[in-house]
Amino acid sequence: MLPKDARREEVLERLDEAGGMRPGVAAKVHRQTGVPEADVYGVGTFYHLLSEPDAGVRVCQGLSCKLGGCDALLADLQSQGTKASYVSCLGRCDFAPASWEADNEPPPPITGLSPSDPDFAIDLRAPDATRYDALRMAVDQGPEWVCDALEMSGIQGRGGAGFPASIKWKAIRGQAETERYVVLNADEGEPGTFKDREVILRRPHLVIEGLAIAAQVLEAGDIYLYVRGEFGRVKAALMAALDEARGWGEVDDTVNWHFVDGHGAYICGEETALLEALEGKRGMPRMKPPFPVEKGFRGKPTLIQNVETIACVPAILTRGGEWFKSTGRTAPGSKLYCLSGHVQNPGVYEAPLGITLRELLELGGGVTGTLKAYSPGGASSGFLPADQIDIPMDFKSLGAAGSMLGSSGVVILNDTVDMVEAALNQAVFFEDESCGQCSPCRIGTQIVRQTLERYLESRDPETLSNLQEVAWGMGEASICGLGQAASWPLTSAMKYFPKEFGLD
Ligand SMILES: Cc1cc2nc3c(=O)[nH]c(=O)nc-3n(C[C@H](O)[C@H](O)[C@H](O)COP(=O)(O)O)c2cc1C
Ligand code: SF4
Repeated sequence: MLPKDARREEVLERLDEAGGMRPGVAAKVHRQTGVPEADVYGVGTFYHLLSEPDAGVRVCQGLSCKLGGCDALLADLQSQGTKASYVSCLGRCDFAPASWEADNEPPPPITGLSPSDPDFAIDLRAPDATRYDALRMAVDQGPEWVCDALEMSGIQGRGGAGFPASIKWKAIRGQAETERYVVLNADEGEPGTFKDREVILRRPHLVIEGLAIAAQVLEAGDIYLYVRGEFGRVKAALMAALDEARGWGEVDDTVNWHFVDGHGAYICGEETALLEALEGKRGMPRMKPPFPVEKGFRGKPTLIQNVETIACVPAILTRGGEWFKSTGRTAPGSKLYCLSGHVQNPGVYEAPLGITLRELLELGGGVTGTLKAYSPGGASSGFLPADQIDIPMDFKSLGAAGSMLGSSGVVILNDTVDMVEAALNQAVFFEDESCGQCSPCRIGTQIVRQTLERYLESRDPETLSNLQEVAWGMGEASICGLGQAASWPLTSAMKYFPKEFGLD
């Protein structure tokens, strides 16, 4: 039991201030916060950026960076005597192979972008000076009007799960509890995904305005902006926009805005793990129900929304729900698709929801080489073969194809790629990022990785005999989406490329 006066929520901030888990730091933070030293140690060692403070240059080993030559980059750095090691994903797949150093963050990169289109909700290249018309409309017309506009728009969450936003907003408004929170999920960590980074760098006012509207409608007193730790300049863009909006008199001080750094744990993108991190704990997902709209941050009703979802809200209000819906093709709205891997112009492309890969590749200048496979929605979505190039890339259609839109991090693989190696790359990611809380995921991700390594050594298909069973167990019995989807890269690669697994 935690002492009554312990200030647990401060633990991660204090560990960060102390420079991570160096000798004596756990004891120091215990003295500062009153949280038991062992508990502080457990928290600090959970987060990669805190547990390895002296890692030096972190080289991304996400799939796009693997295809882009991360192994050579790491070897090169090390041969020059630079301290360097691998990291799971840096959210810079458009600059593969990417690297990052804590105190030496490069300037915001300029990525390939589709032509600016004012007929889409985000319109990444438009001047970011919305002047908060939508917020004013929300105040004038009232919360019911806002929720109805969201419902009419049909917007589904853009963070991965595709849950209708209006249902969450309405559910929170229906709670008797009046202490409520709004949380921005800017932890973007799914390999292949870097759209939220671009939204914040280019249109930070859309995000600030969307959050202000949410707090207004839900009568929330506090907004938490949880930004991944490797996105220092991204956080700075958000902070500058908030200051500017305050200077314009558009955002008043009736709401408290809190900026919170992530500390390099992919799992904290999962909404309940994020809440645990906000509360100063190890980022381990909670069992659901209860859902955050009922019991979220500090056990109170909480809206957690992805950056892209929140950034769509101003346009939905100013141009109407019907308009937003009509900008999609097979599902409501436009969508930001991240394109990386073997493609001519990696970048973020805003397109009607339901665009096919064939069309997206035309926007991105085409494949480098011959298309073999693609991963439509980040590592969790597995692989689809080249002949499935015409599937509408929306939540339902990709789900029906046994994959998912997820975070729409589209990774292109040409015919030089060994699918066993590709599946192994994703297996390493999930094993490294499993929070370890439940055994199907903790042990399953390890078995998948070890088995693939053994198969690569022997090329004996017998090695793979137990894998389908292990994958089934992971899918059925894991607590959260990480473990449930962690075997998909393997099972989809085996399904569509059996020869490479010695199965045909
Ligand atoms: C393993 C895992 C990682 C996730 N990572 C992110 C993330 O980085 N950003 C995000 O917005 N949602 C992420 N999600 C989805 C969130 O749990 C949640 O559904 C989302 O933040 C809700 O916002 P939305 O409805 O606007 O999408 C992740 C889910 C899982 C299972
Ligand atoms: S599925 Fe994996 S990441 Fe999710 S709670 Fe279980 S161990 Fe943690």
